[in-house]
Amino acid sequence: MACQQCGDLLDVVYDWDRLPVPDALDAFARKWARRNDPHCFSGVWRFHELLPFVPVEQCVTVGEGQTLLHASQGVAEYTGVRPGRLHLQYEGMNPSGSFKDNGMSAAFTHARFVGATRAACASTGNTSASLALYCSVTRLMKAVIFIGSGKISSGKLSQALDYGALTVQISGDFDDAMARVKEVSQQLGIYLVNSVNPFRLEGQKTIMFRVLEGLGWEVPDWIVVPGGNLGNSSAFGKAFHELEQLGLIDRVPRLAVINASGANTLYELVEKRGVRWNGGDPNAAEVCQYYDSMDAEGRRASTIASAIEINRPVNFNKCIRALEWCDGLVREVSDQQILDAKAQVGAGGLGCEPASAASVAGTKLLVEEGTIRPDDRVVCILTGHQLKDPTATVAYHTTDQDQFNKVLGSRGVRRAAFANRAIAVPNDLDEIIKAIRLYS
Ligand code: F0G
Repeated sequence: MACQQCGDLLDVVYDWDRLPVPDALDAFARKWARRNDPHCFSGVWRFHELLPFVPVEQCVTVGEGQTLLHASQGVAEYTGVRPGRLHLQYEGMNPSGSFKDNGMSAAFTHARFVGATRAACASTGNTSASLALYCSVTRLMKAVIFIGSGKISSGKLSQALDYGALTVQISGDFDDAMARVKEVSQQLGIYLVNSVNPFRLEGQKTIMFRVLEGLGWEVPDWIVVPGGNLGNSSAFGKAFHELEQLGLIDRVPRLAVINASGANTLYELVEKRGVRWNGGDPNAAEVCQYYDSMDAEGRRASTIASAIEINRPVNFNKCIRALEWCDGLVREVSDQQILDAKAQVGAGGLGCEPASAASVAGTKLLVEEGTIRPDDRVVCILTGHQLKDPTATVAYHTTDQDQFNKVLGSRGVRRAAFANRAIAVPNDLDEIIKAIRLYS
């Protein structure tokens, strides 16, 4: 997965002059009329001409990418964006409940193309759920997943177990699991589907194609996305860069990547230390120094948004390249801001898991600081489904102070401003009716 000369990650590059690319984006919409063909139904392979690394008839699909671009009035009001101008790209609708299925269909396609029979990943839970699902549905490969012990939410763990993946719990965090899975895959010849795999990112480009489709092929002003391993942000930048090169769009949106403040490597390096892609010559020494100081001080990522609890994002370089292409920026938000934003997303009709809500919390912050203007058209990516992490949601809404403290207080969350508390009543009809009258 890495270049033999420089050690950096590989990238997929196409010779567009020799490939049949439609001359306008709305050509893709016409495929929907042929949706009884699984490759036209797929929200990934419907855009095959923009990720043509394997012939379309060999592409693996389980029906991924049937997602929704939702204009949420409630969330718009919460963030300070004018209602009608803020959209939520709801990736929780994917078969495994997160955006990962976009990339997995692509990596899986490549794995099969090269004859792999086993595929592995390290994961904070969603990549593993997605890999496990593709293995169980297609029966093309066996899944081996590496997770940090106690580091993934019960919803995600239950998926991997239910889908029958060989689940290896490492004592350590995501970064430890990532380091091990690389070694193990190499020794045992197992195909690695983490986002170090460039084909994963090809699939994740289609999230942006569907955003454009949802906006009638108009380019928004902002894409706001949570940053963990930085696969999405890297893929989004590549998507817009290629569309611009192909003359299919005439401008690119600005990209805002939002870290949890407990896992803020990208924020520290880009916003505090000024690391830039610099046309392909980033300040690698600064990055090494940062990681060395992290190790020396024993600093490890810690956030309630367990999906993005990552110290060394593997796609760091591709992400800063995307930031350059899309005039991007990085912000950090606290667990308190994340959970309040998550409650507002839930109250606005579509739930999400904590990491996803970083995009909404980040948008609110960017409006407050005057970077996003209320009239800008903003798309927040909701990366994962609400039911992925019920523990965080229930703890936010609970009346049980001990449960609140255990799950959230320990993360520095002090209050639940938007809590919807259950009311406790005795099993007595009069009391129940009295309570409903009182509270409704
Ligand atoms: N949101 C969710 C719900 C995620 O699961 C992840 C990453 C991210 C955001 C961050 O995306 O890595 O592209 O910057 N989850 C990975 C996993 C690491 O193992 O499931 P990114």
